[in-house]
Amino acid sequence: MLKENPKHYNEINIIYETIWRSLVEGVNNRSSDFHTFALATTDGKRSAVRTVVLRSCSKKELSISFHTNNYSNKINEIKENSNVEGLFYSKNKKIQIRISGQALIFNDVDICHTIWKNMSQDARDCYMYDEKPGTRIKNPKSIKKNTENKANKNFSLININIQSIEWLYLSSSGHRRVSFNKENSFVGDWIVP
Ligand SMILES: Cc1cc2nc3c(=O)[nH]c(=O)nc-3n(C[C@H](O)[C@H](O)[C@H](O)COP(=O)(O)O)c2cc1C
Repeated sequence: MLKENPKHYNEINIIYETIWRSLVEGVNNRSSDFHTFALATTDGKRSAVRTVVLRSCSKKELSISFHTNNYSNKINEIKENSNVEGLFYSKNKKIQIRISGQALIFNDVDICHTIWKNMSQDARDCYMYDEKPGTRIKNPKSIKKNTENKANKNFSLININIQSIEWLYLSSSGHRRVSFNKENSFVGDWIVP
């Protein structure tokens, strides 16, 4: 646990830079707290949240991405309502980051084929099941496997186009909370923690 507040504690511009540094670290370092995030979706009737792995981020394009099975429930939810939120939390750094935006689904297009080609067999295995994720089964040991080609088509890339980022840091010497929005060009506003 950090004993002292980070130097950028009161510097809104530096906070924005550290958010992006944390995301880059999350993409590149499997042991980073920012390597996974909780993705919240809603189809209008119910909400759902689950852990996904952060696969890429772009400060320039204002986006983050993750991979998923095209037949998973989250895909239907995103098709119903593309507004999603990603939640990152580092216990070590005492930082929570919430990223809201619109999710865009890419399936069976060039970018997906390229990612698939470079994917490890372990990662590919997540897309090999014959049945849709979430289907009831009698025996977990006897799930039928797809061909590589079908599995490739099960794979989707989801890009989240960021609309807003909220940063929260809890400290005994005073909490800090900042909101960055597309409308004000991600300049950042202090908000009540
Ligand atoms: C550490 C961890 C990482 C995960 N990464 C992903 C991921 O990158 N993509 C994904 O679709 N599911 C991932 N999952 C599984 C999801 O949390 C979830 O169980 C699954 O995608 C089905 O969700 P859905 O039915 O809401 O679509 C991960 C789970 C854990 C525990």
